[in-house]
Amino acid sequence: MKKNIVFFEAVGGSDKGADGHRKDTMPMVNALKAKGWNAEVVQLTDEALRDSTKREEIYKKVRDTADGYVSRVNPGNLKEEKLYFDVLRKLCADGLVGMPHPDAMIGYGAKDALTKLADTPLVPSDTYAYYDPAEAKRIGVTFSDKHDFKKTFPKTLAKGERVLKQNRGSTGEGIWRVRLESSSDYNKVESLPLDTKIICTEAKDNHTEERKLGEFMDFCEHYLVGDNGMLVDMTFLPRIKEGEIRILMLYKTPVYVVHKKPAEGGDAFSATLFSGAKYRYDEPKDWQTLVDWFLGQLPQIKSKLGNYDLPLIWTADFILDTDEKGADRYILGEINCSCVGFTSPEEFMAKIAVMVGDNIVEIVSEKKA
Ligand SMILES: Nc1ncnc2c1ncn2[C@@H]1O[C@H](COP(=O)(O)OP(=O)(O)O)[C@@H](O)[C@H]1O
Ligand SMILES: [Mg+2]
Repeated sequence: MKKNIVFFEAVGGSDKGADGHRKDTMPMVNALKAKGWNAEVVQLTDEALRDSTKREEIYKKVRDTADGYVSRVNPGNLKEEKLYFDVLRKLCADGLVGMPHPDAMIGYGAKDALTKLADTPLVPSDTYAYYDPAEAKRIGVTFSDKHDFKKTFPKTLAKGERVLKQNRGSTGEGIWRVRLESSSDYNKVESLPLDTKIICTEAKDNHTEERKLGEFMDFCEHYLVGDNGMLVDMTFLPRIKEGEIRILMLYKTPVYVVHKKPAEGGDAFSATLFSGAKYRYDEPKDWQTLVDWFLGQLPQIKSKLGNYDLPLIWTADFILDTDEKGADRYILGEINCSCVGFTSPEEFMAKIAVMVGDNIVEIVSEKKA
């Protein structure tokens, strides 16, 4: 073992502090150094990735000097994400510990992870992922009617209020709550006609628009276009008004729970700060039932999402629902694992960085033993 870890960052982007690093990067580097390990930051640019000589140099240097890497590149900060992921994939194939493996980032973080978990208690079984047929082929999904947005969405919406989720972005943009004008309009037809009036609220800012179903579906086509294009269609969970519950995980250990309460009133359903939600940070023990249940689901989550190791720093978001017996149950809304920050609340950051360092040493020592 070399006892050396590389942290990949992108140069630039709004997540960087005055020293050019993400604010949570150097605390992790220093935590490893305090444990007698070495850690270094490798900063990537699109230019370097595009230049095959430079790309090869970066790859070889990391391969020959590090035991593993931690990916701290926010989605969107590198245009050449594919080339970046190719480098990571090669490093993992060479035996470096990927924290996480690029395909784990895709598998856990993509919105269609929900449909892969739809046969578990984590996600309602009537959850669908829609694709463009070409994209379905690219990712190995056998395209059928249930993947066909325009065929299936008029049927799911005929039964009840829905949430449509695009895959890109993570700020509530392209996350639409869609409902009919009156709650008595549901379950009247098997499939809604295209001229049905619908009310759409976007999670980005909770703004509401009145649309025609056909016209709205045409608009949504752009979410399906291109690599990783998709829309996930899940039932609207009205208890979102009680809050979204985020568990911050370090590998298999819960660190804290964020309770995010959407703004009051109207159709507001978004748990993003920008949309006016209020955040509260709790201890895992304050959410013991949820946390214990979730930890029990981890083996299942891992196997359904491609059997990659759990990510190093990740979050799982839950919304309350009520089961047939009237008891509380938690529904998974999404997983984030590409570059989860832990800069707020600020007073937790140093402690979490130390925990990350401990986890890295434990994971790498176990893998390299
Ligand atoms: N099924 C649902 N029922 C009710 N609200 C939801 C549902 N899914 C998502 N939301 C709300 O929409 C917000 C954004 O959705 P999310 O899946 O977290 O996408 P993003 O990647 O934009 O964070 C959530 O924070 C939550 O407030
Ligand atoms: Mg979210």
